[in-house]
Amino acid sequence: MHTVIVTGASRGLGRAVVHELNRRGAAVVATARSESALAALEDELDNVVTVVGDIGSDSTRREVIETALRRDGRIDALVNNAAVLEPIARSADAEAGPWSDHLEINVVAPVHLTALALPYLRASGGRVINVSSGAATRPLAGWGAYCTAKAALKMATEVLATEEPDITAISLRPGVVDTAMQATIRSDGRKVMGAAGHDRFVRLHEDGELLDPALPGAAIAALALHAPKSLSGGFVPWDAPEVRALL
Ligand SMILES: NC(=O)c1ccc[n+]([C@@H]2O[C@H](COP(=O)([O-])OP(=O)(O)OC[C@H]3O[C@@H](n4cnc5c(N)ncnc54)[C@H](OP(=O)(O)O)[C@@H]3O)[C@@H](O)[C@H]2O)c1
Repeated sequence: MHTVIVTGASRGLGRAVVHELNRRGAAVVATARSESALAALEDELDNVVTVVGDIGSDSTRREVIETALRRDGRIDALVNNAAVLEPIARSADAEAGPWSDHLEINVVAPVHLTALALPYLRASGGRVINVSSGAATRPLAGWGAYCTAKAALKMATEVLATEEPDITAISLRPGVVDTAMQATIRSDGRKVMGAAGHDRFVRLHEDGELLDPALPGAAIAALALHAPKSLSGGFVPWDAPEVRALL
């Protein structure tokens, strides 16, 4: 049985990834801060163990790896999905503390968790799926921290793929997904993002065009278990033909 680590598993996309991995017969180590949501996941699904903690903390990251290894002594894939959008702020209003916290969660955590998992991923010929965003390549007013972090994570994935021929490392673009992060954009984004940038997200919601998390969630789970080496280093849309072929 494959063992897969999923961060940000308490809701949204991460939770959908855990469900699909479970359906496909993988064992999952699921982590996030929300204790009750993780307890519900463990109750609902067999072969899911959880670690409650802040992924921005070194000790949580080490506990996640130790928990995976205690299960079956192996790690087959790591899905770095946990992320925050905040601070939503213009560059002129950037503050050191919120930026540091953001980069710790959105960049340092996935990079460090990958390093901790790497000896086991090399042994299993495993996979790292870093959940990315169009924001990695497209600037959006008010999203300085998020765009910068996703761009950094995209490059970190490319470097990893260059350095590690025995594993497959991918940046996955999940589309615009109906999760709490989108609700935050609609409720808190307008003043800072400006009307034009904000309207697009409001319209997508009003027109029912946000994706059900189960769709990109299924793509991420399939890639975690079966992504071909040819995708390593790629910036891959959730609905790319190579991904659909795995569904
Ligand atoms: N929604 C979209 O349209 C969209 C588009 C492009 C990319 N993405 C990316 O998709 C991924 C999932 O986003 P989502 O939309 O599902 O967002 P979400 O509903 O806000 O979920 C974020 C997840 O990350 C966890 N998390 C946040 N900060 C954490 C921390 N410090 N320590 C541990 N866990 C933490 C949250 O759990 P706790 O709060 O319980 O800790 C939650 O499980 C993110 O990488 C996001 O950037 C989303």
